[in-house]
Amino acid sequence: MTTYEVPARVREGSPNPMATLEGYEALYGEVSSDPDAFWVAETTRRIAWAKPPTQGLGGGFDQIADAPLTWFADGQLNATVSCIDRHLATRADKTAILWEADHPGEDTSWSFAELAAQVNRCANALKARGIGKGDRVLIYMGMVPQAAVAMLACARIGAIHSVVFGGFSADSLRSRAVDCKATAVITQDFGMRGGKRIELKRVADQALVGIDEVHTVLVYQRTQDAVEMEDGRDVWWHDLVDGQSDECAPEIVDAEHPLFILYTSGSTGKPKGQVHTHGGYITWTSFTHQHVFDLREDDVYACVADVGWITGHSYIVYGPLANGATTLMFESIPTYPDAGRYWDLVERHKVTIFYTAPTAIRALAACGDEFVTRRDLSSLRVLGTVGEPINPDAWEWYHRVVGEGRCNIVDTWWQTETGGICISPIAPATPTKPGSATLPVPGIEPVLRDAEGVVLDGAAEGLLCIRRPWPGMSRTIWGDHERYVDTYFSMFPGAYFTGDGCRRDADGYHWITGRVDDVINVSGHRMGTAEFESALVHHDAVAEAGVVGFPHPIKGQGVYCYLVLSEGHDMDDRGELERELQGILRNHIGAHARVDLYQVVPGLPKTRSGKVMRRILRKVAEGQPEALGDISTLADPGVVEAIKAGARSLA
Ligand code: WT7
Repeated sequence: MTTYEVPARVREGSPNPMATLEGYEALYGEVSSDPDAFWVAETTRRIAWAKPPTQGLGGGFDQIADAPLTWFADGQLNATVSCIDRHLATRADKTAILWEADHPGEDTSWSFAELAAQVNRCANALKARGIGKGDRVLIYMGMVPQAAVAMLACARIGAIHSVVFGGFSADSLRSRAVDCKATAVITQDFGMRGGKRIELKRVADQALVGIDEVHTVLVYQRTQDAVEMEDGRDVWWHDLVDGQSDECAPEIVDAEHPLFILYTSGSTGKPKGQVHTHGGYITWTSFTHQHVFDLREDDVYACVADVGWITGHSYIVYGPLANGATTLMFESIPTYPDAGRYWDLVERHKVTIFYTAPTAIRALAACGDEFVTRRDLSSLRVLGTVGEPINPDAWEWYHRVVGEGRCNIVDTWWQTETGGICISPIAPATPTKPGSATLPVPGIEPVLRDAEGVVLDGAAEGLLCIRRPWPGMSRTIWGDHERYVDTYFSMFPGAYFTGDGCRRDADGYHWITGRVDDVINVSGHRMGTAEFESALVHHDAVAEAGVVGFPHPIKGQGVYCYLVLSEGHDMDDRGELERELQGILRNHIGAHARVDLYQVVPGLPKTRSGKVMRRILRKVAEGQPEALGDISTLADPGVVEAIKAGARSLA
């Protein structure tokens, strides 16, 4: 296995205290030896506090069942002051947000001064509608700068935003509105992606039928096309926001006041509202964004994720803005108008740091080098990946063709729950190995355990846990702390269990092997198999459904679905049934929820107690029917033969 040294141009001139491996190790040691002292000093220096904290961690993993843990609990601040106000003295005219619209070349830039005015106007507009501290506001938008403004405006007044990815269905939006008891929604008429319109307002209307608690729907107008507006409830952004004052004093809140809720899928059907708070989250995203990417003052930083996911929260909006960086927001898709769009973007905006997902890298690599090599990508210095394990081939292509060997690649491992990057190279310091997320960032203490909980030392493969709290972690699941404790702390009391498997090599490098629970990761989108299953059984023809992931050449994981048909139904018209099932998934979850392969089976393999043996479903879908292991506890071993016989594959 090749190890790549950090290229000279990434090392040179780095302002980073971790610019070398020795620097990294020294800082790592300093944080570990006294985390409280380190983080209190670090956040006081890094973040604009109204009242600087004197306390570090409050509570801990061993007391987590009693109460959420806290960081900096006696401090007070508002996260937006760090993202906006404090830059006005030195960076008022610097570009804060660089927006690349769906249509290529249609771009706009907003300085920090303009961003400040926009956020304050929007914050005043929310206040004018009676929205205030602690209220929950859903944001259901595409990638327009107004989405970032909406997030920051909520934060400014102490309201709690919950961004819902624009691809989610009305059902998904509705269940989130109900779960967090939202009183307002910010959306837009239509989203624009790849030349197509996304009906955001219409879906929002559908989602909100009968939810009287939502008294305000603020609608940003992206297109000229008409949408319905409900009298009294709905108000246009240009009518309400544009005329407001540019000044709005930030609501100063306690460090542990919730900044946002972000829903993420787990092993059970119901999405979990992860709660992140002002003090710890802004400290962690700022710290990791600066160090991992080795941010410099004149960088043009582009993360092409969506604000609907945690990557967009932490590394498009909060982390970069807290660091006074120029952050690009990209409305379109990587293949519009052709597979060269990212590289066109890099060339035109002279992007220096580019952050994307392995699935996009694989898809674009398959389109040929031509799209990349005809562009001038010499501005690039750091390339990042996130969301799923990256296969060495895709890594090599990213390194060689996109980075021309001059850039370091940071393969960043983290989760919605962790708030920010936890295991990753530090761009100027860490030699890389294709496919490895390498080393923990300071403050993160990963441990590997076997299924019995025994801690594995040295080179080993096991279940990835983190043994000490860090400031950026989610504090609880909205409205259900018990579920939070149960999901992350019951498996190995005293440690946070990530749900991922991981191998550590002899150099201490981490290789994430993927989820070990019933979560699948399709094109970097995290989905619970249970969500698929409970949606699919809504079809009359489906008695039972068993959904698992399987290796997919582009998407990382594909979705494989075993169907047990109800009495009197057959697969005679396979195409028709698959289309109907796809429609059901679209309505219940969203357009990104798709099954790649269906297999009709006479029954699901169950134990005598009725539990589906998912291991068997997984092995067959993965094309390893010979590796089923012990099936003697099955109620009806016969179904296994039928499942093996009917197995399908993409090939
Ligand atoms: C899961 C978290 C973190 C933002 C995007 C996804 C997988 C994430 C990596 C990586 C291998 C990765 C894990 C993790 N994952 N980054 N660099 N290498 N796997 O956030 O939706 O909360 O999903 O994504 O399985 O548990 P998320």
